[in-house]
Amino acid sequence: ETGPQDRLPVDLNELAAGVQGCRRCPLWRDATQGVCGQGPRNARLMIVGEQPGDQEDLAGKPFVGPAGRVLDDALIEAGIERSDVYVTNAVKHFKHEPQGKRRLHKTPNAGEVTACRWWLTSERDLIRPRAVLMLGATASLAVLDRKVAVTRERGQALALDDGSAGLITVHPSYLLRLPDPVLRAQQREAFVADLRRVRTLL
Ligand code: URA
Repeated sequence: ETGPQDRLPVDLNELAAGVQGCRRCPLWRDATQGVCGQGPRNARLMIVGEQPGDQEDLAGKPFVGPAGRVLDDALIEAGIERSDVYVTNAVKHFKHEPQGKRRLHKTPNAGEVTACRWWLTSERDLIRPRAVLMLGATASLAVLDRKVAVTRERGQALALDDGSAGLITVHPSYLLRLPDPVLRAQQREAFVADLRRVRTLL
């Protein structure tokens, strides 16, 4: 017997339903819901994050929390309309552990990234973007299927297997975590510069 998850989804609705029912790894157990990508079917740019955070898990939408605000502001500065972008994550369920009343983000492991690559590949097949921007090491691992040193490889245009362009940059949460305001401002500028570069690949 073949289940609906054994063939590629025919459209984004089927993909969203598939993600909700996904049992490819155990992360669904502790998550509120799966969080699919969001954006137009014909988006030229796809942005890939790591996984939904606390707020995304509750809202069912990617990048609506603090990291999403950093991303939104940087997109505006780079002249990219978020509504033109398909924004998604490498892993579709929120991995976390309790810390008091809070749910602390835990980085997904390589097995979880591999299990969830099915959905990311399906999204790429359906959207066929011209460029894929990878936010951080987990997104890069998911898209490129290899370990990436983000600070060394960021900002260079890469040729992806499907003919689209790839670009690695830092994750916006990295900017939020930088304690030194000068360094943070510098790194934010570099992030916006990477967004401007990806714009030239569209
Ligand atoms: N961080 C991510 O990588 N993705 C989200 O959707 C939110 C925060």
